[in-house]
Amino acid sequence: MRIILLGPPGAGKGTQAVGIAETFGVPHISTGDILRANVRDGTSLGVEAKRFMDAGDLVPDEVIIGMVDSRIAEPDAVAGFLLDGFPRTVPQAEALEALLVEREAPLDVVLRLSVPHDEVVRRLTGRRTCDGCGRIFHLVADPPATDGVCDDCGGALTQRDDDREEVVRRRLEVYTTQTEPLEHFYWERGLLRDVEAVGTPEEVAASATAVLRQYGAPR
Ligand code: AP5
Repeated sequence: MRIILLGPPGAGKGTQAVGIAETFGVPHISTGDILRANVRDGTSLGVEAKRFMDAGDLVPDEVIIGMVDSRIAEPDAVAGFLLDGFPRTVPQAEALEALLVEREAPLDVVLRLSVPHDEVVRRLTGRRTCDGCGRIFHLVADPPATDGVCDDCGGALTQRDDDREEVVRRRLEVYTTQTEPLEHFYWERGLLRDVEAVGTPEEVAASATAVLRQYGAPR
């Protein structure tokens, strides 16, 4: 199955992607995670990307498209994938469409997670991420058993640099102007499905899985 998860920052894409990828047996490909790994490793891509990310702006299309092109050509992604955070602009969506036509590997579905903007700000300012395994927590909605420590691997929990409130508001503006047009892009192609992403993460997962089962069988 080839799935895109669409939705504003903090909609719960990363939270839901882990379970969906496992249920449907596809790799979870997050452009945000790939960029953050490059920032951590100090690569030239990471150095270039960091100034856009810290400001809440998008990394230039040509950088991102090249990165995704090589990632989806890897053997684990040939039979399917779950894209999280890509595409984010119409040129990215057009480039992906062209790549997939060339590979005769059409998309199955674009799942949009809908959440009100106020809820997004609350979610992102309370988010903590494990430095070791990447598990996502929330200080109120999904706190770790011990403050600052990951329940799964014992790693340290940290706040992302772009989760400060003023950067979150900028990311939301960018989403509205540059990414929301993709809803129409995919609606026109008959690929867009909507999931209300409010309620507990388990409730959202159940709604998302119910939609996705119409496109492919769980593993
Ligand atoms: P990226 O990492 O993709 O960030 P994002 O899309 O802004 O999304 P987030 O990771 O912030 O949120 P999410 O929807 O995954 O929410 P999560 O599950 O963590 O991108 C970061 C930056 O990289 C961009 O700003 C840009 O600069 C660059 N970039 C990346 N891709 C790019 C591209 N294609 N083009 C150009 N630039 C690109 O959940 C959030 C919080 O809410 C967590 O604490 C979680 O525990 C909590 N939560 C989740 N679900 C629920 C629930 N149901 N109820 C209560 N709390 C919940």
